[in-house]
Amino acid sequence: MTTRTPLISGNWKMNLNHFEAIQTVQKLHYLVPKQVFEGVEVSIHPPFTDIRSIQTLIESEDLDFSLGAQHCHFEDSGAFTGEVSPAFLAKLNTKYVICGHSERREVFGETDEMVSKKVLAILKYEMTPILCCGETLDEREAGDMEAKVLGQIEAGLAGVSNEQIASLVIAYEPIWAIGTGKTATAEDAQAACAAVRGKVREMADDATADSVRIQYGGSVKGGNAPELMSQPDIDGALVGGASLDPDEFARVIQFAG
Ligand code: 13P
Repeated sequence: MTTRTPLISGNWKMNLNHFEAIQTVQKLHYLVPKQVFEGVEVSIHPPFTDIRSIQTLIESEDLDFSLGAQHCHFEDSGAFTGEVSPAFLAKLNTKYVICGHSERREVFGETDEMVSKKVLAILKYEMTPILCCGETLDEREAGDMEAKVLGQIEAGLAGVSNEQIASLVIAYEPIWAIGTGKTATAEDAQAACAAVRGKVREMADDATADSVRIQYGGSVKGGNAPELMSQPDIDGALVGGASLDPDEFARVIQFAG
């Protein structure tokens, strides 16, 4: 059985300017004892305007955080007003890039095809995609959860080699649990993440499925993290609201006690 180091990612969404970002990361680092990072990896995904400041802070003070982005375009450069190239993110030593977040899909019309192109573009620059999937409440109640989520995985991993899939991260985020205070039960979250791993097993092979890390996201907080993180197919969390508060995020990171 492969050991998968849990990845706790803070997706700040459109919150915290670069001054606030620096203070938040400094405080978070102060709150988490160094030895905790031996058993867990933590990535911070600030808005684009903060990334250079956070990169400088992490590198100059040798902080135990990985730098992440929330989104990117799939082209290297060109006439795409307002977009950010994966090449630019790679130059800032960005390690993880979230792609296909439900807010990007719902609010900005990202399709499975665009998400697939982004996954390939992020990999091309040797960064790691955090590929998001998740169902709406209506889809869950209609019994369509697996069809929706596994369809997103199938589309998102198209053209990705087994070796690349093994190193990437998938985030299962039920849309009805995002920012609502409603969390999937640990049992439901485990079942969904197991189904995602099963899909990877079907598309690739056992070794790949056993290596890929699968995060749960949706109202993760210090209080519910220990139970969610103890599930066999949950290898970390993609955290929104709670990641903006260093005290709360520090509790999530220390889920193992
Ligand atoms: P919340 O933790 O605020 O529910 O957000 C989850 C999320 O969308 C992280 O990407």
